[in-house]
Amino acid sequence: MSAGTRGTGLAPFDHTTLGQRVLFGSGAAVESTARVVSDLGAQRVLVIAGRSSAQAAHDVAAALPVVARIEEVAQHVPAERAAAAVEVAGRSGADLVLTIGGGSATGLGKAVALRTGLPLVAVPTTFAGSEATDVWGTTTDGVKRTGSDPRVLPRAVVYDAALTLGLAPGAAAASGLNAVAHAVDGFWAPRADPLNAALGAEGLRALVPALQDLAAGQDGLAVRERLLFGAHLTAVAFASAGSGLHHKVCHVLGGAFGLPHAEMHAVVLPHVTAFNAPAAPDAAARLSGLFDGTAAATGLQRLHADLGGPRGLRDLGLAEGDLPRAVELVLPSVPPSNPRPVDAAALAALLRAAWAGAPVPDEGVQR
Ligand SMILES: NC(=O)c1ccc[n+]([C@@H]2O[C@H](COP(=O)([O-])OP(=O)(O)OC[C@H]3O[C@@H](n4cnc5c(N)ncnc54)[C@H](O)[C@@H]3O)[C@@H](O)[C@H]2O)c1
Repeated sequence: MSAGTRGTGLAPFDHTTLGQRVLFGSGAAVESTARVVSDLGAQRVLVIAGRSSAQAAHDVAAALPVVARIEEVAQHVPAERAAAAVEVAGRSGADLVLTIGGGSATGLGKAVALRTGLPLVAVPTTFAGSEATDVWGTTTDGVKRTGSDPRVLPRAVVYDAALTLGLAPGAAAASGLNAVAHAVDGFWAPRADPLNAALGAEGLRALVPALQDLAAGQDGLAVRERLLFGAHLTAVAFASAGSGLHHKVCHVLGGAFGLPHAEMHAVVLPHVTAFNAPAAPDAAARLSGLFDGTAAATGLQRLHADLGGPRGLRDLGLAEGDLPRAVELVLPSVPPSNPRPVDAAALAALLRAAWAGAPVPDEGVQR
């Protein structure tokens, strides 16, 4: 090997960041969305926006050539709603789908884009991050199917933090922790690499202090801007790194037991982190650095507590008797690349701790 080909100490990697236009600006949603829709040459817009985003949708869509509107959105995209939305898209002759709202509105738009091939534009009002991924999901009889497809990646995303101000601080906190989970789980996900880790870490540098401000009662546009910016970065990291153990757990709990998405992520994350951290020192160190040296899982759980979220999955409606079935459903989907091997006993202990809202063990203590 010549001196010129000597390595730098970085392991080889094969990375993809999804290509997408992103417009970021508070108070600019109306203008930015009109520009994006016009640039895509669309003349017949289907608007999907849940009722909580009705005002935002009214304002943003006022100057657009709207041919149909859908207001019925639900978490985890029930298959019958997806089918109904596809029918509306066909009947109205829509040539573009515009979603305004949280992950539920984006998710329904993705279901339409998947079946019709129509271009999708997303205007997010939460920090769920679905708008930056090519992952779709639909739920039939309590079983959530997901997949990735380039057709569901929004061609453009319009971020306007003013649209998130309607989200109450508690809901914003849970949604922000959902965004934190994208980065943390990305650190040990199947396609984790130094580039998506860097994106995730930068996202956390925006999210964690913003959530600490929120916990201290300092809410406002500046906090929401940092949350939205961080949420985008961590979602880009997640889209690149894939789903790790945390997302596999939450995917099953959301689909099979209908638990609220963001709150469930907020509860589960410290427990998955406590489990994986002893075998993922780089991830643990990145997180600990954000919490002034406090151990990663403890820092995450304290942040969650300071934000006042529900402590355990039982507080979100999961029955104790559902735990064995949850273990059964999650186990086959655990990524083989998880830094620690996961067997049924370990998973049962992790889920029970998350269910009870138990304090996470000190780092280095293996369950
Ligand atoms: N495919 C992906 O990559 C991906 C990533 C993250 C989340 N998701 C999916 O997204 C869904 C969860 O997204 P979510 O947490 O944003 O939930 P959501 O869209 O259901 O929104 C949560 C709640 O906030 C309300 N809301 C949204 N925006 C508001 C606003 N500006 N003001 C007031 N209320 C507002 C909604 O009405 C709802 O009650 C789940 O189905 C999840 O699976 C998918």
